[in-house]
Amino acid sequence: MRISVIGCGYVGLVTGGCLAEVGHEVVCTDNDPGRMAMLEGGRVPIYEPHLDAVLAAARRAGRLTFTRHAGEAVRAGDAIFICVGTPPRQTGEADLSAIDNVARLIATEARSPKLVIEKSTVPAQTGLQLKRALAVYSRKNGLAFRVASNPEFLREGTAVEDFLHPDRIVVGVEEQSSEEQCREIYRPILEGLFHCPVHTPACPPTPTPPMLVTTIASSELIKHASNSFLALKISYANVLADLCERLGANVEEVTRAMGLDPRIGPQFLRAGLGFGGFCLPKDIQAFIWLAESVGVDFGLLKETERVNRQRIELLLEKVRRALWVVKDKQVGVLGLAFKPNTDDVRFAPAIEVINRLVAEGAQVRACDPEAMEKAGALLPPIAYHRDPYEVAKNADALLITTEWEEFRRLDWERIRDLMARPLLLDARNLLDPAQMKALGFEYHSFGRPGC
Ligand code: UGA
Repeated sequence: MRISVIGCGYVGLVTGGCLAEVGHEVVCTDNDPGRMAMLEGGRVPIYEPHLDAVLAAARRAGRLTFTRHAGEAVRAGDAIFICVGTPPRQTGEADLSAIDNVARLIATEARSPKLVIEKSTVPAQTGLQLKRALAVYSRKNGLAFRVASNPEFLREGTAVEDFLHPDRIVVGVEEQSSEEQCREIYRPILEGLFHCPVHTPACPPTPTPPMLVTTIASSELIKHASNSFLALKISYANVLADLCERLGANVEEVTRAMGLDPRIGPQFLRAGLGFGGFCLPKDIQAFIWLAESVGVDFGLLKETERVNRQRIELLLEKVRRALWVVKDKQVGVLGLAFKPNTDDVRFAPAIEVINRLVAEGAQVRACDPEAMEKAGALLPPIAYHRDPYEVAKNADALLITTEWEEFRRLDWERIRDLMARPLLLDARNLLDPAQMKALGFEYHSFGRPGC
């Protein structure tokens, strides 16, 4: 099928790249000229494992093109995926102006009817508004557009794998023909008929993912409901960690046992510095706002957010307790990205932690395998080092704020010897407390004995 993708952020690139990889003809566009220049030149503006290989292979096969001519991109596809950003306003409400702009673009540039698919995360009822906007903006050319909702459940860092091996595919439609078109788009994935760039030589056996067909409103709600529930789980684990600290229990033992109950499940119960990124924090705010706008008080989610914000303060309290005076102390920070395997620093807890440490007068140096460049734009001047050992050298304290695997595998004896004081605050519970203490570290983490 011929498919257009509007918006070349990580969702648009993964969607466009993977749909081309599985055999469709895809044309992508974005209104950011810098981003388009990079993509046209064969470079990928974000770090996402396997994405560069997927895009390069699809381009070589002639199935993926990038164009700055948005009208051309609109006309190229029978189905158009909208993958533009829906950032939060001050109130938490999602800003849907980019979706409105795209509706106008599609309505005025199309020359034939299209299926317009919302891939961006949007509040329930956006589909309805989108359909109206398409009708209003196209009143002169008389084209009829169908609208579908197809939320993505891609995690940054494993987005390519998530796209090609989804747990579920959700499509919200109004017409049988839209359902059939969506089924055709996802047929190679549903039937496992593609060359997988993630697993070599072959993918592990997995059950066929279910494709759930719902109303547009349900489909839109499913996305916010899922992300908010994940956030709720994390905050639950974090409050448990606080309780474990007071009661001498171990949060990892508690959550492990809880997770073995299939009704609870083991994932998203990792306690630590809390959730960040551009999805969970903004989606939970948008969901609270949406509920309020229709007279439902989602207090449960407000509390989830409050618990999450408090994680930063709890880490800083641990730092203050250990260092006594923070001003003029040399503090090393390992990790800037909001989670490992991404260069994304938007709403990353590490950024807030560093801002607060700098405000308190600490001398901060930081290291991250992928995110230093992007963090530089958000932080006050601090020192950056590619080499984590340079960050540890002469430090009064070392903080782990992102659980990159490379940090786990560091030579911790060497780090201990390099530091002015072997004080380690592991805000992601990455390392083993007993091992670290045996090495001679003053070691603190969240919710584990002796924290
Ligand atoms: C999240 C969802 O997991 C995806 O399903 C969804 O598609 C995506 O948002 C989106 O809406 O686009 P992502 O933002 O990539 O994906 O990150 P997550 O893996 O969900 O992690 C979010 C944050 O929670 C990270 O800061 C992570 O460190 C933290 N986290 C995660 C914990 O603190 N504890 C956990 O147990 C799990």
